[in-house]
Amino acid sequence: MAADSLDQIVSLCKRRGFIFPGSEIYGGLQGTFDYGPLGVELKNNLKRLWWKHNVYERDDMEGIETALLTNKYVLRYSGHEAGFVDPLIDNRTTKKRFRFDHLLRDQSLDILDAIAREFGTEPTSDHEGLSMTLLKDPAKAEVALKAAKCVDPTDGKPGDWTQPRTFNMMFKTQVGPVADDESFAYLRPETAQGMFVNFKNVLDSTNRKLPFGIAQQGKSFRNEITPRNFLFRVRELEQMEIEYFVMPGEDERIHEEWIEDHMNWWVEEVGLDREKLNLHEHAKEKLSHYSKRTVDIMYNFPSLGFDELEGIANRTDWDLGSHSRDQANLPLSPNTAEKAMKNEHSTEKLTYFDQPNNKHIVPFVVEPAAGVDRGVLAALCEAYCEEELEGGDKRTVLKLKPALSPIKVAVLPLAKNKPDIVAKAKEIKKMLQADSGMRVVYDDSAAIGKLYRRQDEVGTPFCVTVDFDTLGLGKDGDTSLTDTVTVRDRDTMQQERIRIDELEAYVRKRLR
Ligand code: GAP
Repeated sequence: MAADSLDQIVSLCKRRGFIFPGSEIYGGLQGTFDYGPLGVELKNNLKRLWWKHNVYERDDMEGIETALLTNKYVLRYSGHEAGFVDPLIDNRTTKKRFRFDHLLRDQSLDILDAIAREFGTEPTSDHEGLSMTLLKDPAKAEVALKAAKCVDPTDGKPGDWTQPRTFNMMFKTQVGPVADDESFAYLRPETAQGMFVNFKNVLDSTNRKLPFGIAQQGKSFRNEITPRNFLFRVRELEQMEIEYFVMPGEDERIHEEWIEDHMNWWVEEVGLDREKLNLHEHAKEKLSHYSKRTVDIMYNFPSLGFDELEGIANRTDWDLGSHSRDQANLPLSPNTAEKAMKNEHSTEKLTYFDQPNNKHIVPFVVEPAAGVDRGVLAALCEAYCEEELEGGDKRTVLKLKPALSPIKVAVLPLAKNKPDIVAKAKEIKKMLQADSGMRVVYDDSAAIGKLYRRQDEVGTPFCVTVDFDTLGLGKDGDTSLTDTVTVRDRDTMQQERIRIDELEAYVRKRLR
């Protein structure tokens, strides 16, 4: 049986050392999580798979790692200072704060209709759209919410609501010892901007021709109003993003190619069930300021339903255009030319010399942007399985793709009080560990059945058991199994006898 609630995943993660609440012994820090011994392995494996697919296996990609602390002008000209906002509202009675569109989402249809009617707009079940409409006249919205008896989901009673307002989600931090209005920087809210502002550096140092891309993985920070649903919405998140630079006019076709490629990646490499994935096309009127078209890859998370795993946007020439000096003399698309802020601080023109046509152009950008934490969460949800075994026993097993499994092999001695068996098991652990770069563990802390269950629960694909036969001490002097071990498969629980000198090759072949 698959997980039917996120609580099962949260509980496994805490119990087995995948993920812990951040700053837990001081009461926690909302919206932060710490990755434990197994969590860090899983997360690194996911990131490695992504990097391999998107950087190493292509001939048109470069990797980069840019600073988290970001000059305010980067985020001014990107549009984040003005536009990276969420709608916010407070209930004076319960003192609870809500994201306004989420509050509307949690109302009954009758209340939602009443709010629209009182405000004087068309009734709609589109909570995001209604929230945007109401924000145009916050004073009138306050009156409408009161008249419609808009309910506080925490106590089920009509709230005493403030006016809705917007709230910028970027974290500011002081830089240097003097605190004044000018000496601040932002913690980046997306990894993307580091790639745009380095466009020229990468282009000049690699001599790339269009189309080519830059990939980056790393932390981003968003002061979410209501972080929730475990790793799904956090304030310190990790992203895996690509900015893929193309000739204007080729953007729409290449956008489609990335959507298909990444949909397949989540299925084939991460192991997500295609049936639990779908594509969500953003409505034109809800597109971000930079986007011509955005398609989200959505995963059906337990408890949450379908929600965003990755967004793939056609960002046009917005970012390179916005971060360039002398914009008036650049061949920008009409939207960017009209709406981007006049740049008075940049020292560069982020252009590309189109040799065949002998002119400078501003490339368009296709951006596949995925969340590492949401990827980890989806992989865990997909893999989680409770099974009833013959004889009435139960087991919880994480059927992770072997490439994602935190531990690849557990080497277990059949008897921990037999020094020769223990020594052999430790020797095999060391041998497997030596050049493979994979995590192999030795464990003798319980009886073999219990050890198998423990490894099942954390998704270890192979358990190797060393027994008397391995040492040539089989029953009735049988030495036919000397220098062999049993290898137990996590999913089928079948055991095979394998020669020790063939063990590494056996495991490697099955880890792909
Ligand atoms: N550069 C574009 C960009 O950042 P986004 O849709 O805001 O786009 C990309 O973010 C991905 O980052 C999302 O699809 C999601 O997986 C992840 N993400 C965004 N906000 C998040 C949060 N608060 N907690 C966890 N993951 C988040």
